[in-house]
Amino acid sequence: MFTEACTFVIFGATGNLSRVKLMPALYHLEVENLIPDGSKILALGRRDWDREKWLSEAREMIAEKARGGLNEIVFARFSERLFYHKVDLDIEQNYADMAALLSEQHFPKNMAFYLAIAPEDFSRVIRYLSHVALLSEETGWRRIVIEKPFGYDLESAQVLQNQITKYLKEEQVYRIDHYLGKGTVQNVLVFRFSNVMLEPLWNRNYIDHIQITHSEELGIGSRAQYYDNSGAMRDMLQSHLLQLLTLVAMEPPVSMEAESLRDEKVKVLKSIRPIPKKAVHAHAFRAQYSNGIINGKPVKSYLQEENVPAESITETYAAMKLYVDNWRWRGVPFYLRTGKRMAKAQSSISICFRHPPLQFFRDTHMKCLTQNWILLGIQPEECIRIEMTVKEPGLEMRTRTSSLDASFRNENESQTDAYEDLLLDVIKGDRSLFLRFDEVEYAWRIVDPILQTWAVERDFITTYPAGSWGPKETRRLFDKENQFWRHSLDPECEGNGNE
Ligand code: BG6
Repeated sequence: MFTEACTFVIFGATGNLSRVKLMPALYHLEVENLIPDGSKILALGRRDWDREKWLSEAREMIAEKARGGLNEIVFARFSERLFYHKVDLDIEQNYADMAALLSEQHFPKNMAFYLAIAPEDFSRVIRYLSHVALLSEETGWRRIVIEKPFGYDLESAQVLQNQITKYLKEEQVYRIDHYLGKGTVQNVLVFRFSNVMLEPLWNRNYIDHIQITHSEELGIGSRAQYYDNSGAMRDMLQSHLLQLLTLVAMEPPVSMEAESLRDEKVKVLKSIRPIPKKAVHAHAFRAQYSNGIINGKPVKSYLQEENVPAESITETYAAMKLYVDNWRWRGVPFYLRTGKRMAKAQSSISICFRHPPLQFFRDTHMKCLTQNWILLGIQPEECIRIEMTVKEPGLEMRTRTSSLDASFRNENESQTDAYEDLLLDVIKGDRSLFLRFDEVEYAWRIVDPILQTWAVERDFITTYPAGSWGPKETRRLFDKENQFWRHSLDPECEGNGNE
């Protein structure tokens, strides 16, 4: 595909996101020769740096993450694209200076502005960019990339949306959810819609329930300021995990075009049964990590983390049960959970099928047939597995679980980072993996009653030891006695179900 040259402008270029994700991703696109010829990257930061200093910083950022180490020839080519400009976000004159710089001949007039900055600055930056005509598309396209969180709740998301629509058309806005850039997440669509044998099974007639898990071993690190105001429900469930749910549950889109895909995702979100405030406790659970052991090392409790207020009841674990009230899914529970400082870092989708309708083997050694599962490992293990029951060799009628493995990646295929995919899409103008505002809005509608209830219940929060699978009490979310959290992708793993 022919892609025109552009100028990629990064607000907050000296910050953490740029360091760990954006600059390494752009460099890896350079390695693959995917950045259009003539494109430039303008880094904006508050520090008084010159180009030399920025190049040495950029080099350090990239060297830390470059796959196979930094390639000097590629970096030399890449650094010709790099420029630095000092900007104080609060000073409007600085935007005029930036506009003057960008009007210089060598900066292509197609421009993407990446807002790797605090959410409270989003609307002001957009307003100032518009004042200096940097959002007008007279001489080339202009795109704005907005990181999550898009709002703090439904109301603030709508306010932010109202503010930005004064200056931007929806086609110019790229709301990023980096989960959608992950290879296995995209593979959910391929797996579902390219394998015809799955479709007849993919519904309430065969599926007992679906689980979506994102667990992390890491704590909140130095992000207390952000995290303590956010919590796990906003940070992960409202955004990434609900997005995964839409991909698992959606109807086949008319095409893979951005709007068709997003229409189907929105239909799922709209079909989710609202949780009335009085039912919040039956549908959601929150908890916070206490101290514990991870990988053999003692780790602090959330309350002991730097800059966390002593009385904080912010949740570092959140789980919820949802029902998608449509023809396909009516009655099938979707269980979502996420947590920091858990036993293992893992993201996965686990689909549990119903029991076979008859126990044919009643009079044999087979006590109870296990259910079939489809397991989609997103990270760190990328896999698709189908668990089946088979007979054990031997004279007796005994069974075991065998797993059909549709490996996603061959050994010689390297893993790319989600941001590489997404930044390339911004350059190409493909919005299918970015969120439309109605997706964000409906996602907030789903979690808002939970957040509002938790916000007033400030006396107590359950804790779980760091290094565990979270609080045992989350069992109460399950509809049936025989449902349990699936912790491992391995059928023989003892951990499954023992929180
Ligand atoms: C971010 C959250 O959006 O996603 C973090 O703010 C979380 O708290 C991260 O750790 C998880 O993403 P990944 O790609 O590291 O699994």
